[in-house]
Amino acid sequence: MNQPKVFVTRNIQEEGITKLREVADVEVWMEELPPSKSILLEKVKGINGLVSLLTDPIDAEVMDAAGSGLKVISQYAVGTDNIDLVYATKLGIHVGYTPDVLTETTADMAWALMMATARRVVEADAYTRAGHWKTWGPQVLLGEDVYGANLGIIGMGRLGMAVARRAVGFGMKILYYGAHRNLKAETETGAAYVPLTDLYTQADFISLHCPLTPETKDMIDDQAFTMMKPTAILINTARGAIVDQDALYRALLTGKIMAAGIDVATPEPLPMDSPLLTLDRLVITPHIASGSVRTRTRMAVIAAENCLAGLRGETLPFCANP
Ligand code: DGY
Repeated sequence: MNQPKVFVTRNIQEEGITKLREVADVEVWMEELPPSKSILLEKVKGINGLVSLLTDPIDAEVMDAAGSGLKVISQYAVGTDNIDLVYATKLGIHVGYTPDVLTETTADMAWALMMATARRVVEADAYTRAGHWKTWGPQVLLGEDVYGANLGIIGMGRLGMAVARRAVGFGMKILYYGAHRNLKAETETGAAYVPLTDLYTQADFISLHCPLTPETKDMIDDQAFTMMKPTAILINTARGAIVDQDALYRALLTGKIMAAGIDVATPEPLPMDSPLLTLDRLVITPHIASGSVRTRTRMAVIAAENCLAGLRGETLPFCANP
């Protein structure tokens, strides 16, 4: 019997590829950059399973190009905003994703950005290397306290909760806003559900953990920044498009907020001539929040398991369109 055909859009961890190769004829795109749209349309022809990344736009055109044999799209990420879920569902294609495994690793990164921005770690490193460290100075590179501050979390799902649990150890008052109340988070961490405007005005740190949807796109805009404290710090490890980047630039430039730590941007990569990159009070990393060896390996294995389940016509262990 012919083996099912699978296309993997990037060289994910070997543990996942090996699992796929046990039963499928697997082609892996080995380049550093994702396949272009035209290459993707070519590569998906006749496949039964597609392992995709958040850098691949998996739209109706791609699914149609694959043909009727495509049974499963298995995303190597928790976010699936690059996939037309409605169209996949209409065609009866199962879409897998990798929740849970990356929660703690991503929360660690949100925390790293919070500490780095509040205590100006990146600026301090540059200052030291540039030879400005002449003596111990009472006014040098003063930052903001994390311990005991007010933390505002937007989106209290798995990730928001993981960040809230860390905040308990830092004696923080936790405020949150989201599409739904999370009573478990309230009991476990003492988080209080508040209107968004209260979160904006009271939080010292605002950390985004909501998905990108038409409702959350550009949600952090000029109006939101105007409500924030001048000492507020914005952390984004979710999706770049949740923040209006021009408004973020204006807010940082004019001191409407103190700093921002972002692991995501629009577009990705952020162009080198982006005015945001001229600002000292912005700490930026290249979408690496889930990037620990252990977590990326687990993501690869889950992506393979979702794909294999879909090829067998079984329910996916983690399905984004159940
Ligand atoms: C995701 O999984 O959606 C992250 O953004 C990358 O791991």
